[in-house]
Parts: sequence; C-alpha cells; structure tokens
Amino acid sequence: MATMQEWLERLEKDGSLKIIEEPCDVDLEIAHIAYVEVKRSPSRVLLFKRPVNKRLGIEYDMPVVMNMFANFEVTRKIFGKEPDDIAGEIEELLHMRPPEGLMAKLSMLPKLFALKNVFPKRQKGRGLCQQIIKSASEVDLDELPILKTWPEDGGPFITMGQVYTKSLDGKMQNLGMYRLQQYDKKRLGMHWQIHKDASHFFDQYKEAGVKMPVSVAIGGDPLYIWCGQAPLPYGMFELMLYGFVRGEPAKLVKSITNDIWIPEDADIVIEGEVDPNEMEIEGPFGDHTGYYTLKEPYPVMHVSAITMKENPIYQATVVGKPPLEDKFMGWGTERIFLPLLKTTAPDLIDYHMPENGVFHNLILAKMQTHYKGHAKQFMHAFWGVGQMSFVKHALFVGENSPELTKYEAITEHILNRISPERLLITEGIVDALDHSSPEALVGGKLGVDATGQEVADSVESLLNDNELLNAMRAIDSNVAGLKQYFTHTKNPICIVTYDKKRSVKELFEDVAALHSHLKILIAVDAQKNTLDNPYMIVWRVTNNIDALRDIRKKPFIMVDATDKNELDGYEREWPGDVLCDKDVLDSLKSRKVIDIDDEFIERFGLL
Ligand SMILES: Cc1cc2nc3c(=O)[nH]c(=O)nc-3n(C[C@H](O)[C@H](O)[C@H](O)COP(=O)(O)O)c2cc1C
Repeated sequence: MATMQEWLERLEKDGSLKIIEEPCDVDLEIAHIAYVEVKRSPSRVLLFKRPVNKRLGIEYDMPVVMNMFANFEVTRKIFGKEPDDIAGEIEELLHMRPPEGLMAKLSMLPKLFALKNVFPKRQKGRGLCQQIIKSASEVDLDELPILKTWPEDGGPFITMGQVYTKSLDGKMQNLGMYRLQQYDKKRLGMHWQIHKDASHFFDQYKEAGVKMPVSVAIGGDPLYIWCGQAPLPYGMFELMLYGFVRGEPAKLVKSITNDIWIPEDADIVIEGEVDPNEMEIEGPFGDHTGYYTLKEPYPVMHVSAITMKENPIYQATVVGKPPLEDKFMGWGTERIFLPLLKTTAPDLIDYHMPENGVFHNLILAKMQTHYKGHAKQFMHAFWGVGQMSFVKHALFVGENSPELTKYEAITEHILNRISPERLLITEGIVDALDHSSPEALVGGKLGVDATGQEVADSVESLLNDNELLNAMRAIDSNVAGLKQYFTHTKNPICIVTYDKKRSVKELFEDVAALHSHLKILIAVDAQKNTLDNPYMIVWRVTNNIDALRDIRKKPFIMVDATDKNELDGYEREWPGDVLCDKDVLDSLKSRKVIDIDDEFIERFGLL
C-alpha cells in the first residue's frame, strides 16, 4: 500500500508523470489540458503544481493530479499485476472444490489464508487523513481546487470522489464513485443514479425518515477509486475487492463527525449527512458519453467536517468524448469481471467493450454455441445481470472469430454473418445517462447473433460512393454526403450525412427503392459528423440510437443515428455534445501548455 505522494514519486521516476508548474485555472483549463493529454499515446499522469481560481482570486496550496490511470502500463502498476492474472485468481476461487487427501488440503491453505486480506481492518484512533481537521464552522469547499470541467457545466464538480455509505441497519457498507456538484461552501449534490447501491441505501433512510451519513474520500491509494467504479453486486463492500487485489487489507478509520469508515491514508475526507427530504437540481454536466447530462434533482450532502493529510493532493478526472482515463479503468474492470460474468454465461469465452462505444453502448462477446438460440440466451443473460443490463448493443461471435480487439478483422467477420433475421431487438433498462430512448431509464436493445455461418447473399449491385450518392440525392437532396465501408464484405455499411428537415423514417421509406445497392444504411446529422472519421461515427451511432425506434430491418438494415426531435415524436430534451472552449484551448496553446493541431481537434471532436 502506498500513499498518493509515494505513487507520484514512483511515476515520476519512471517517466510516467508530467509536472505542470504553470499556474492553471480550475475553471476549464486543468480539465482541457488533461482531456488533450489522455488522447495521446501513451499519455501521462499530470500533476498541476499551481492550481488557481481566477474567478474567486484563489491560489491553492494543494496540487491537483489528473489522469492517474493514464495508460495501460500505469494501470497495471496500480493493480500491481496483470488484470488477467487477477481474473485467473478469481476464476480459481470460483471453481474451488473440497480437496481430497491431505496434500490437496495443504495446497489450498495459502489461497485460503490470502482471503483474510479481503476484509478491511478497522483501526483505532486517527488516521493520516485526519492530520488536519476543519470543523463544521470552518468548512469551506472553496478551499479545495474543485474543477469545472466543461463550459456548460452547472458548476464545479468533484469528479473522483470515493463515496462511502452504509445501509440503514449498518450491516452493509458501500464504496461508489459518483460525481458531486459543489453548490456552495458547505453543500454537495450527490449524483448516485437510481440503479446504484448508495441510492438503494438512500431509499432506506428516506423511508425511515432518518438522515444518511456519508463520507467522501479523495486520493490515497489510487486503487480505491478503481474499486469505487467496479460493478460489484449490491451488498458487497468494494474495499473487499481492494484487499483481494492488493493482497493486504484496506485500513480504515472512523470519520470524525459520523460513523462511516474511510481509508486511513486518503488525502482528503469530506464528512457529512444527507437529508432524505431535500433534493436540488444537479447538472448539467459534460459526461463520459460525450454528451451533457441534463439537470435533474438529486439529494444534497451537508458537510460537517473536512479532514486532510498534511500536504494533501487533490485527485480529479475529466470525462467527455473517448478516449478518456476511464478507458484504462474500464479495461481493468472488463478483464477482472470476466470470470464473474462466466458464472451466468458459462460458454462465454471473452468479451470486450470498445472505448468509442463508451462501455454500455457497445459490447462484443465471443462464445461457444451448443444449440440454436444460444447467443440469444446469452443476450438476455447479459441484459439481466447487474450493470451489464445497461448494455444497449451486444454483438456475439463464435469461438473461431478473430480477437475481439482486432477491430478491422472482427467487423469484417460480423458483417459477413449479419442479416435482418439475426438481429434481436427488444427492450430493457438503460443507463440513467442514456439520452436516446423515448423515456428515461427504459429503452431499446439490439443483439446481433453473428455466431453462425457466413450469410449467402451479398449486395446485388454495388455502386461506388459517387453513384450511390447521386442516386440518394435524386430521391432526397438533403442527403449531404456518403461513404461506404467494408464493401468487400457481404454487408457493406453505407453512412450518409443528412441535413435533417424531415424525419429519417420518411427518408428510409423513400430510399428502400435502392435495395439492390444497399445492405446496411446509417444516417447521421450532416452538421455534426465527419464521414471519414469512423472512430467518432461509431461513438455517435451507438450513443444516438434506440434500437426499437431507430432500426428498420426491411428491405435492408437501416439505422437512424441522427439527433431526435419533434419530427421523430421525441419529447425529452436532446443534450448537446461536450465541446471544449476555443478561447481556453487557444490560450493554453499560446502558453505552450498544450500542443495540438487542427487535425487532432477534428479527430477527437474537440470543438
Ligand atoms: C469517471 C467515472 C464517473 C462516474 N460517475 C458516476 C456518477 O456520477 N453517478 C453514478 O451513479 N455512477 C457513476 N459512475 C459509475 C459508478 O462508479 C459505477 O456504476 C459503480 O459500480 C457504482 O457503484 P455501486 O454499484 O456501489 O453503486 C462513474 C464511473 C466513472 C468511471
């Protein structure tokens, strides 16, 4: 176990840390710098030595660390081992059988002893995180370098807070990573979404009419924050996973003003309570989908104390369009949770969530099929398991398919096996952040069964892009551009940019006449998309569609990935893209804090 300071020293030694001495503003600047950095390869951990808040006239004496999970190598170091090896250890435990014979029993002992590390240790007295104590009357959240990460954000947000809570009866503890909006000097908005464990606890306190104690830790061992986002089942304390991975138990101390236990080596702890009868508008917030999450009421925490280590470091992240720091956190989660997923889907060989599918929007899964409908059975299994049930689009391939991370090869493989009959479109729960479904929390799901043989039919008559564009424009002059991908497969993908003046459903009705030239047609808005940027097109399409409303199967597969509005009968507010502030980028460029060109800006949709 090492403190945040010790981690940063190690990272500096091996060249993974970049120290920024230039004063940078907590209002957008720090977040923009980190956002740009994490899109480079390999990106580095950033330590801002002199954060300032020009608006409030503050020069903080607390550095800010960003991109702690800067790349695969740093993430491996934080785990202390290869995530696949941790998965292997979990798999072994899951398959442990009662030993036969003395030798077998003895050989099991080390594994059983190691398990004692999973239980956090409660220590007496004060911890490192309590070297400095600010009582309720002294509490001033403005003293922390809390970042405003995006121009349209509703305020500053704590983006890497470890939120510790307990159930009303005190039997269950939870660590969740939820963002917290700073409302003023003493109050925070608690963005635990309805499906999350702290929200379930909150419901218990609400029903009992009792205030809920909460402590939010920042910093300490970076593995804590990874555990906070790990999708463990309800009732399992995430710090048990910490002990399992680290090989030593988390050491906890009691908060000063409530009875929540927190890691003794955290850099900062914000203690307080939530009145279940008080809700306040939270957001907007530029989120990890690359869109803003809009304003919604969330519970409020009243801060009763802030405790700190001497010389604390404030840890934060920025989310937005991929790739982001959460790509590396998510990679660890994906690998480590494979054996657990296999317990509900035993013939699953592997799965992968491409970063531009922002996790829940796209999952690829490889499996052994033993009977007709097997892939469909797994789709339903996925859509019914914990946070996996947020997955919107699940593509299944058979055991002889290419590696799931070889995107060209796997796409080709899938396109040769796709047909309208092999698509399953259904309904289920969706992530609270999903904006595309007609109503919040429930929406369409697409499952693709590409586990079978190649399909027989290909496009009857393949046209080149110009010919096809002309044919489309003859039908609807608002088709602005067109590009076909994977024309050598059975199902070429044709993307059109559309200047939407009528519903795309009507466009699809009309272009159905071009069935001999098309197998898969996808429409995106002309104003916001670049046809030769497939990375961002995948991001856009998987974000923007609700399979039930937006996919048509006949006479060929058509997908409406445009923004929805009244033309589509969409009644919610459609959120805007997360975009950087041009003046801030220009200022950072002129101060030589970042070095990016127009191609970079275009590639990642920064402006
Ligand atoms: C960078 C980042 C930010 C997150 N922000 C939130 C958030 O604001 N609200 C939320 O409910 N989940 C958020 N999550 C997801 C949760 O951390 C994740 O679902 C976790 O498993 C929740 O823990 P729980 O099941 O104990 O509630 C975030 C994840 C990451 C990686």
